[in-house]
Amino acid sequence: MSKTILEVVDLKKHFTHQRGIFSALQEKMRSIPAVDGVSFYLKENETVGLVGESGCGKTTIGRTILRLERPTSGKVIFDGRDITLLSTDELRGLRGRMQMIFQDLDAALNPKMRIRDILTEAIGVHHRLTDAETEKRIAELLDQVNLKKSKLTNFPHELSGGEKRRVGVARVLSVGAQFIVADEPTSALDVSIQAQVVNLLRDLQKRLGLTFLFISHDLRVVELMSHKVAVMYLGKIVEMGMSDKIARAPHHPYTHILWSSLTEKQSREVAKRAVSVQAGRWGVFDFERPAAGCRFAPRCPVYESKGRPAVCTEPATEPQLVELDGGHRVACHFPL
Ligand SMILES: Nc1ncnc2c1ncn2[C@@H]1O[C@H](COP(=O)(O)OP(=O)(O)OP(=O)(O)O)[C@@H](O)[C@H]1O
Ligand code: SF4
Ligand SMILES: [Mg+2]
Repeated sequence: MSKTILEVVDLKKHFTHQRGIFSALQEKMRSIPAVDGVSFYLKENETVGLVGESGCGKTTIGRTILRLERPTSGKVIFDGRDITLLSTDELRGLRGRMQMIFQDLDAALNPKMRIRDILTEAIGVHHRLTDAETEKRIAELLDQVNLKKSKLTNFPHELSGGEKRRVGVARVLSVGAQFIVADEPTSALDVSIQAQVVNLLRDLQKRLGLTFLFISHDLRVVELMSHKVAVMYLGKIVEMGMSDKIARAPHHPYTHILWSSLTEKQSREVAKRAVSVQAGRWGVFDFERPAAGCRFAPRCPVYESKGRPAVCTEPATEPQLVELDGGHRVACHFPL
C-alpha cells in the first residue's frame, strides 16, 4: 500500500480587492473565495485530476498547495509536515521536491535564455554539479522528455508548443521533483500533441515514481491521465471518485453537464439515468454573488425539475461531500 504524500485539509484561499475607484476612501473590499474549503489526499505514485470551468479556482489550489500563495486557512500536509506553517527558509528545502508545470507555456521559460542555459540554471539551483556532470544530467533529461539535443541551442520562441512543454517538464524533473502540479499541461496544443504530452507524463510517472495533481478544464484529458478525479465548481469540490466512475457514472448534475457538453455519444448513455439537461440555460457564474446554499443551484437542471426545493438554497443545508459508494463522494441533495 503506497503512502499518502499530500493531504489537503479544508484549504481556503480568498483574494481581497478594493472595489471601485473610491473604494480606498470608502474602505469597501470585495472578496473572491477562489478556494473555499477543499479537502483531498494524494498517494505516492498516483495522479489526482482536478477539473472544472475557467475561473473555478484550479490554478489557485495548485499554487496554494505549493505555497506560491499563502493560504487563508486550512492545512497542506506534505510528507507528514504541515507546510502552511513553514517559514520561507524552511520551505526552500522542500522546493526541489514539489514543483509546478505552469499553465502559461511562455511565461514559464525565460525568452532570453537558450534551452541549454534554462536547464543548466535549473539543475544548479538545487545541485552542485561539475560541468561534465551537468552535461550528463542534461542528456539524461532530454532523453526522458524525448527532446532532440539540437534544441539546446534554441531560444524558447524557436520551439513548437509541444517542444516548449517538454522543456518545461525537463526543468521540473531537473530539480528532482517527486510531487508535480501539472497546470493545464496540454492547453494550447494540437490534439495529437496533447496525447503525446499525456503519454510522456504517464511514462515518467511509471519510470520515476512521480505523483501528480493534474489540472485541466478538459474532462477527457483528465480521465486519460488520472487515477482519481475531483470536479470543482466555484471554489469547491462537488464530486470526487475513481476516474472511470466519474466519467461513466457521474452523480453530480454539474459533472454530468461537463461530460454531456464534451461527448454527445457518452452523454446519451448517461442521460438515461439523468434528468433532461438544458445546458444552454446556464446562468451566472460569479464568485462575487455566489448563490446561498448550493452554488450550482442557479444553473442546476435538477433543482429546476424538482421545483426549486429550499434544501438546495438554504445556507444551513449547503450540500457537503458525502460518500455514496466505494469512495465516490458527491455534494448534492439529489445525486443522479
Ligand atoms: N492573484 C489574484 N488576485 C485576485 N484574484 C485572483 C488571483 N488569482 C486568481 N484570482 C481569481 O480567483 C478565481 C480563480 O482563478 P484561477 O486562476 O484559480 O482559476 P482556474 O480554474 O485556474 O481558471 P483557468 O481554467 O482559466 O485557468 C478567479 O475568479 C480569478 O479571477
Ligand atoms: S444540491 Fe440541489 S442545486 Fe445543488 S447540484 Fe444538487 S440538485 Fe442541484
Ligand atoms: Mg488556471
